[in-house]
Amino acid sequence: MTLIEIERALKQLRLSGVRATLQTRVLEAQTNNQPFIETFALVLQDELDRRRSSLVERRYRMSGLDERASFNDFDWTFNTKLPRAACFELHTLQFIADGYNALLIGQPGTGKSHLAKAIAYQAILHGHRVSYLESDTVFARYALCSPGTREQLLKNLLDTDLVIIDDLFLAKHIPEAGAEFLQALIHARYKRHGSVVVTSNRVVQDWGAYLGDATMASTILDRLMHRSHLLEFEGRS
Ligand SMILES: Nc1ncnc2c1ncn2[C@@H]1O[C@H](COP(=O)(O)OP(=O)(O)OP(=O)(O)O)[C@@H](O)[C@H]1O
Ligand SMILES: [Mg+2]
Repeated sequence: MTLIEIERALKQLRLSGVRATLQTRVLEAQTNNQPFIETFALVLQDELDRRRSSLVERRYRMSGLDERASFNDFDWTFNTKLPRAACFELHTLQFIADGYNALLIGQPGTGKSHLAKAIAYQAILHGHRVSYLESDTVFARYALCSPGTREQLLKNLLDTDLVIIDDLFLAKHIPEAGAEFLQALIHARYKRHGSVVVTSNRVVQDWGAYLGDATMASTILDRLMHRSHLLEFEGRS
């Protein structure tokens, strides 16, 4: 085969990682008098790396995250009252394997959303499917959806490994459809042991008032908190 024919074959086989580096690897092998098996291993690794990073990219795009937050760009010295050990525990992602939830509750501006997004991105980097929902946006969207679309939206959220519900009750009152969505989502995730991370600056005691339904609030909270880590955020913001 000529190089052009090899390129064509790689394209046909969808080996874009090999295609991207082949010329470099050939040159490298010639220059270093490299044994075939070594070159072959490098070429295979190039393909694996390429597939891994395109999977991460795809999962990131599908997650709905608006930024790639990380623990590295978080200043842990700014507010020493944060539950740092518990945050790092979540960052290990063991809670996803265990089917646990996490509630990050506390004062505005203390970094709850930042850390939830960082955990979400870490999960994506480790091959998980993640759905990031900004509460008010998703509630409003759900309220406008047809019944069929609502069902599909909920179904999609069941197939992910981690759902983030960010800034819950930022608007003090959520539309009735939003409350129904929240209940349906939490109920379905609970049945499947699918992890949910919620951030909110509203204490859980007030959730009934925001939902306009105390019974619904306790049903949601019971399920969320049954297998759950509760992280309280206080101190400087
Ligand atoms: N300790 C910190 N180090 C670096 N950046 C921080 C820190 N705390 C907060 N921030 C930044 O400050 C902004 C506000 O933080 P964030 O949105 O995470 O707070 P929050 O606790 O979710 O607040 P709210 O309850 O209002 O939603 C973000 O841009 C975040 O990245
Ligand atoms: Mg927030």
